[in-house]
Amino acid sequence: MPPLISIIVPCYKERPNVRPLVASLDAALAGRDWEVIFVDDDSPDGTSDEIRSLGAIDPRVRGLRRIGRRGLSSAVIEGVLASSAPLIAVMDGDLQHDETRLVPMLDAVAQGVCDIAVGSRHVAGGDASGLSSPWRHRLSETGIRIAQRLLPMRPGFAPLGDPMSGFFACERRYFEQVAPRLSGEGFKILLDLILSAPQPPRVLEIPARFRPRIAGESKLDVLVLVQFAVMLLDKACRGYLPGRFIAFAVVGGAGVLVNLVVLDLMRRSGAHFGTSQTVGTIVAMGVNFWLNNALTYRDRRLRGRRMWQGLALFMLVCSAGGVANIGIARALHDAHHGWEPAGAAGAAIGVVWNYAVSSTLIWRL
Ligand code: GDD
Ligand code: MN
Repeated sequence: MPPLISIIVPCYKERPNVRPLVASLDAALAGRDWEVIFVDDDSPDGTSDEIRSLGAIDPRVRGLRRIGRRGLSSAVIEGVLASSAPLIAVMDGDLQHDETRLVPMLDAVAQGVCDIAVGSRHVAGGDASGLSSPWRHRLSETGIRIAQRLLPMRPGFAPLGDPMSGFFACERRYFEQVAPRLSGEGFKILLDLILSAPQPPRVLEIPARFRPRIAGESKLDVLVLVQFAVMLLDKACRGYLPGRFIAFAVVGGAGVLVNLVVLDLMRRSGAHFGTSQTVGTIVAMGVNFWLNNALTYRDRRLRGRRMWQGLALFMLVCSAGGVANIGIARALHDAHHGWEPAGAAGAAIGVVWNYAVSSTLIWRL
């Protein structure tokens, strides 16, 4: 028989926190039928070894180890999919989420009071003092404001005080119903879940304290913020364009800028147009490859020898994309279409080609 409750814990480099977390769950969930599923992205600090050695003596501790992948949201999704319990809760593996709130959250869901119970820092009794710096406070507030602006797009939905929380509970069936629509990008799985639900979920906020982190460090960085923007764009486009494609196109736009800047610098230093444009194009392709590797395909990032192979292949593919772009634009232009529509059609075909080949060939190396 599967347990009644699965606690899903995404973790990356949290070795020192694994044991204390299980001990705190043991106390907080005393008398309940529960398991914990850690989803570790092959942390170099041996987090998975720690999980496994605990699991050997305590069958309530399970581990899912992903290799060559990164990402909080996708880790949570796979953790939920690995569960067979009727109730799930998602919490961080760094002891920042207050495990004593789990029981009221799970009970609210089990009693049918709500679809999703959120451990919230921004309702009466909640506390966000654990954010490490004034910078993090401001960032969190900005994120909440942006998210709230997006949320009312769903009719009949009351604004949520803490849409950025990563601490929540729901029925596994509910999560699985929404799962195929999730973008799975970045850090904000709760927001993703709410925005992806076919109908506005009934959300109940339960006050929770966000504790300061003691061991290990936060994995939030600039790229995670960019991924947040991509996830929101993905949702704003209502899934018509995949988030990855949007990221790829934005990176492509940045490449055009790089190309123009290099062209201008070389012109000032007296180089010929042909040479300058060639260098500009190569530099832009290199920058695009790096950005796509670090961002668009972050979860499949290429390293070492495979990265250099990927770079070479990327340059080839983009060159072919350029040839296709020019060929199609020229054909349309010859068929008496205007400059702009012909140029735009060529560019669009070029981006789609580059994206298709990058997704299927390069970041699958
Ligand atoms: N598997 C996996 N893969 N886990 C990850 C990854 C990853 O790429 N990145 C982060 N995690 C895990 C961390 O190990 C931790 O257990 C949890 O996800 C949260 O990551 P932190 O790096 O500690 O994030 P934070 O404290 O800045 O942000 C948290 O607080 C936000 C509220 O401000 C997250 O829980 C957010 O979801 C939450 O909303
Ligand atoms: Mn944290």
